[in-house]
Amino acid sequence: MNILILGSGGREHALAWKLNQSPKCKNLYVAPGNAGTAAIAKNIPIGVNDFQKIEEAVLENDIDLVVVGPEDPLVNGVHDYFLSNSNLKNIPVIGPQKAAAELEGSKEFAKEFMIKHSIPTAAYESFTVDTLENGYKFLESIAAPYVLKADGLAAGKGVLILNDLEEAKQELHAMLANSKFGNASKTVVIEEFLDGIELSVFVLTDGEGYKVLPTAKDYKRIGEGDTGLNTGGMGAISPVPFSTPEFMDKIHERVVKPTVEGLKTDQLPYKGFIFIGLIKVGDDPFVIEYNVRLGDPETEVVIPRIENDLVEVFQAVAHQKLDEINLKIDPRTATTVMAVSGGYPGTYEKGMEITGFENIADSIVFHAGTKLENDKVLTNGGRVLAVTSYGDDFKKALKKSYQNIEKLHFDRINYRKDIGFDL
Ligand code: AMP
Ligand code: GLY
Repeated sequence: MNILILGSGGREHALAWKLNQSPKCKNLYVAPGNAGTAAIAKNIPIGVNDFQKIEEAVLENDIDLVVVGPEDPLVNGVHDYFLSNSNLKNIPVIGPQKAAAELEGSKEFAKEFMIKHSIPTAAYESFTVDTLENGYKFLESIAAPYVLKADGLAAGKGVLILNDLEEAKQELHAMLANSKFGNASKTVVIEEFLDGIELSVFVLTDGEGYKVLPTAKDYKRIGEGDTGLNTGGMGAISPVPFSTPEFMDKIHERVVKPTVEGLKTDQLPYKGFIFIGLIKVGDDPFVIEYNVRLGDPETEVVIPRIENDLVEVFQAVAHQKLDEINLKIDPRTATTVMAVSGGYPGTYEKGMEITGFENIADSIVFHAGTKLENDKVLTNGGRVLAVTSYGDDFKKALKKSYQNIEKLHFDRINYRKDIGFDL
């Protein structure tokens, strides 16, 4: 098979790494890819939202399967584009259609879905500029901390958690009246604050059946001890040590089953990954968000634990035969630590040469923000490299990730030294 992956991060490198191991994978392409994917696949320099160029690349390279990494093209309807095009409609796309991608594209849509299908989530109300005064009153009626969420896609920045009522009102005003997050904050969801520990569950569905993939936990803040600004993710661990069988049963019964059933009931066509962000409050799971794709850097620990041939698994998704797949999961723990550019998530420079790859032993280095130039690997983003390792437990795996990340060098490299500190 000829396979095309859309995206350019660590998630896409991890998917490419895994698909490349399949004897069924003939030619592998990544658009636009990075220096890591260039070593195992052919990069095609086109954007993930340029559907016309994607169409050309698919036809030119006889692509048989498309795997969508990030949410943007899904929310923009890349799957629907394929289905409505006579040249492309028989080429399977892994990723939901636009209507279902609204689970990530609109927080309000996701909340309505959860309420409708009795999926546990924080209580909420949503507001627009016309109901701003009601929004202030709602804030006055609830206790701090205040959770304000821009309804639309805001590159992971659209959620504010504030302790001060006046500040919360000001931010609500900024979001609704001053377009703080552009169109994404035309509607704002205000929700009850949930106090607990977070984890994510990944589900793969073909629209009928589904498989629950390994759990993972990521570390979003830039600073040690979970302090400072939010990032895309500074590290991850799979499985999450507190995901006991009893707790997983609750997630299964209360969240995963009703989610997949709800998609069917609501006629939201879904062939792809569902990333369910959860908070464990006491002993109970609550959904904080749905994403319609895999997480990054969670993919860099979840995919390496799947022992099946991923091409076979994706073919089963495409043909609605996922029930026939017997998923095999590596019992070891996988961890990843992300090396980022100095200054990230604020301003940072790109184009620093990265060295030391040849010294890595017993870890896998997934490239996130890198590019190849004159045979040199250069930094090309905030998150640069994810160093993934296996171990009998998360401490052993992390030890390897840290031993190896020290061997990688670029100007102003930064990484968190305390991944797993809270476990
Ligand atoms: P989201 O973009 O929805 O994942 O939200 C970003 C982060 O905000 C989450 O990873 C949580 O840490 C936090 N968060 C979101 N909703 C809530 C909530 N209702 N209670 C507490 N924390 C939340
Ligand atoms: N690591 C969080 C995300 O991919 O959204």
